[in-house]
Amino acid sequence: MKAREIKPDIYSVGVVDWDRRLFDELIPLPDGTSYNSYLIRGSEKTALIDAVDSTKEDELIANLSTLNIDHLDYLVANHAEQDHSGGIPRILDVYTEAKVITNKKCRDFLIDLLLISEGRFITIEDGDNISLGNKTLEFIIAPWVHWPETMLTYLKEDNILFSCDLFGSHLATSQLYAICDEKLLESAKRYYAEIMMPFRNNIKNHLERLENYNIGMIAPSHGPIYKKPEFIMDAYKEWVSDDVKNEVVLPYVSMHGSTQKMVEYFIDALIDRGIEVKPFNLTVADIGEIAVSLVNSATVVLGTPTVLTGPHPSAVYATYLMNILRPNTRFISIIGSYGWGGRTVELIKGLLPNLKAEILEPVIAKGYPNDEDFRALDRLADNILNKHIEAKIVK
Ligand code: FEO
Repeated sequence: MKAREIKPDIYSVGVVDWDRRLFDELIPLPDGTSYNSYLIRGSEKTALIDAVDSTKEDELIANLSTLNIDHLDYLVANHAEQDHSGGIPRILDVYTEAKVITNKKCRDFLIDLLLISEGRFITIEDGDNISLGNKTLEFIIAPWVHWPETMLTYLKEDNILFSCDLFGSHLATSQLYAICDEKLLESAKRYYAEIMMPFRNNIKNHLERLENYNIGMIAPSHGPIYKKPEFIMDAYKEWVSDDVKNEVVLPYVSMHGSTQKMVEYFIDALIDRGIEVKPFNLTVADIGEIAVSLVNSATVVLGTPTVLTGPHPSAVYATYLMNILRPNTRFISIIGSYGWGGRTVELIKGLLPNLKAEILEPVIAKGYPNDEDFRALDRLADNILNKHIEAKIVK
């Protein structure tokens, strides 16, 4: 994607990665992604905000060339992760005069990850300003968005917040500016769930701090630019809030149909009680969709058979992911079947140390579920409804 002007002397010079389908060899990218980079030409100095993934550095260099950038004073590194920093060494090779502006922690990461020499850095502190002449950059150190070294850059005269990963979306699009529709919201929420949700409380604080800035535009490092910052900021406020919905997320796997039968019965039991249920068959589920469903759901019930002595490995994987994503889940339970014994419930509980959720009495059937097992599933559905009512989750 060629360079495009955002405002006078401010350009989008990043690249779209239309074909990328996996991030961190873990996260599905159904809509590709982009690595945004921004060029600011001040009256005295020129600065680049973030670089791109090393696989796309040639495109970034080409975009700078089409703008006739033959001298670069600063490269601002908001974040050391390689999808933004991977292209920095190449930029520093081409622009031998350029200095990398970042905080101390990010500098140390960049030295470790990319072997950039210490002499190429200018380190800043939280709240520091650097003048480009007629334009001023202010640095807002915002740890854990989603690494410990992350920061944001605010361009004062133009009221633009360069937010790097924060407010981003893995969305390859030719649209420079956000079309604030359901599709974008879904993509941004997926990104939040996968990347930001474990740091919900940190982000809550950062959002409060950003209230002090007059932000007219948000230019993240993934996905489109927001001309209406309130669209994405309001969505984030909802996602990081303590409010949860009258919903049950039900990731499950079944080998011979016993757990499947219990899941089917339980879905109807929840619907009968007015509780929304989101089942995910773990043999085919997209983990990004599971993550999205966890953002504001009150309860998770895991469905798993016992394999040999413990939960099915697919259920272990889902539980492990849930634990590291740290959703605001209030209640958890387990349903499933076993043949001759095992420690399924105990092992699943042990995989969830990060969650402060209350564990509700599981329902584990011996073999194919019988009438007593179905009654136990009804009791679990009643229990969930009562818990949601007591917690004022049911309005
Ligand atoms: Fe888009 Fe944390 O890198």
